[in-house]
Amino acid sequence: MAASWLKDAVFYEIYPQSFYDSNGDGIGDLQGMALKLDYVRSIGCNAIWMNPCFDSPFKDAGYDVRDYYKVAPRYGTNEDLKNLFAIAHEKGLKILLDLVPGHTSEENEWFKKSCEEDPDFAQRYIWTDGAFSGGDGMPFIGGEYPRNATYIINFFKCQPALNYGYRDRHTHWQQSIDAPGPMANREAMKDIMRFWLDMGCDGFRVDMADSLVKNDHGVKTATMEVWKDMAGAIHAQYPEAVLISEWNHPDQALACGFDGDFYLNWDGNGYSLLFRDYRRDAKGNVTPDNSYFKAESTQDIQGFLGDYLPKYQASKDLGLWCLITGNHDTPRLAPSLDDRERRLAFAFLLTMPGAPFIYYGDEIGMDYRWLPSKEGGYARTGSRTPMQWCKGKNLGFSDCDAPYLPTDDRQGAPTVESQNADPDSLLNHVRRLIALRKNYADLGNYSDFQVYSAREGERLFAYKRGKLLCALNPGVKEESCKLDGQYRVVYALGEGRLEKDQLIVGRQSFTVLAPAE
Ligand code: GLC
Ligand code: CA
Repeated sequence: MAASWLKDAVFYEIYPQSFYDSNGDGIGDLQGMALKLDYVRSIGCNAIWMNPCFDSPFKDAGYDVRDYYKVAPRYGTNEDLKNLFAIAHEKGLKILLDLVPGHTSEENEWFKKSCEEDPDFAQRYIWTDGAFSGGDGMPFIGGEYPRNATYIINFFKCQPALNYGYRDRHTHWQQSIDAPGPMANREAMKDIMRFWLDMGCDGFRVDMADSLVKNDHGVKTATMEVWKDMAGAIHAQYPEAVLISEWNHPDQALACGFDGDFYLNWDGNGYSLLFRDYRRDAKGNVTPDNSYFKAESTQDIQGFLGDYLPKYQASKDLGLWCLITGNHDTPRLAPSLDDRERRLAFAFLLTMPGAPFIYYGDEIGMDYRWLPSKEGGYARTGSRTPMQWCKGKNLGFSDCDAPYLPTDDRQGAPTVESQNADPDSLLNHVRRLIALRKNYADLGNYSDFQVYSAREGERLFAYKRGKLLCALNPGVKEESCKLDGQYRVVYALGEGRLEKDQLIVGRQSFTVLAPAE
């Protein structure tokens, strides 16, 4: 059984360096975050996922961990994090930290000791059998250290892969998943999780969770075996701890102990077809796109459902498959979707099953823009700009003269202040949708989901959540579907009306119906 609090969790993702700078050094921090928890609560969110806040050289925004047991000094101290957990709990908020189990920073003590062939650490990373050996298809680095071997990396050059062994082994330096090095890594990750859970954290979003065992092709059975052990140990000891994976395969992730998995916009999949069906040129300009949520799109919902439904069906009894508005790796919804299109996207995201995740700033329509790379962000940098709180210096993010990343200085950039003041703002629309979700148990994270109407070539998509009927028409023409009973409208954005046994959904509209009493 998953943690009880997960059933009505609505998450808010906070990228700590860009949320709120409390001490004027130009970088967001934990004390700043603590000051803004009431805002998170005001949206209706009751849980937070915070990107990595651990000691790091920040060559990949903190996904290159130098010390898993220490908060990065730029964010504060371990004590500050402990306080943040306590304050959050008082306010009814849970906090997930970001666990990076697949790799460390090259500056991590573990890696330094591994380079020196310290017996306790020599096999904790994946070393080949010679300084001139290749990686057997995996990216590898050589020539950096005296140890007579090359080593495998997981992502950037600065991120050597921790050794969890190989499933399909071609060479003698590839170890089995239960060799001493891989087993020691499992115990090390369990210990790290216990350390933060004991301090008050409520669980982890797990980075590249599917990457642990190498050559684990197809169904990742060996990686799943490793997670059964690690997640199993944590859940047995901390039944209220939540683990959410970056895996994009809920049938696998939820079967090996994760409580939730993300639906990510990888490989032009169904998720991309909804919101991000476009290409970006070398300068970062977005070409006109055909995303389902674009008013003029020719796309029906079939592309999304073809990808989503089989995986949803295969995993719905095991846990949550979570939809995101975006994250620190994706382009933001703005500007590719305009205000109306984003409102419809939120209506969809906040009425689907799985725990919804709102990426900070998406709720006010913060814009993507092309910026020079910062901390390993590259194209992702433009989705990571400082939160926009109010008018004035750095839009209220920081008192300093030049924050580590510039705030959006374009005219009309949305702020929390301006959107709070406008009852019709995107922010208040999001608040109303979350309130609706909370109001109807049928819209809960685990509640039943059935496709009701999704005809080929039509823009209308209607779906049942328990007894409720949700209908979405992102297109420019009125659409309709036949009703299977007596209903009344309980929510409408735009036009949703009942005519005899028909539901009519106006252009760019969304409606929710409940059975008539
Ligand atoms: C995940 C993170 C991403 C990071 C990468 C390497 O995809 O979300 O930001 O760069 O893993 O850790
Ligand atoms: Ca700061």
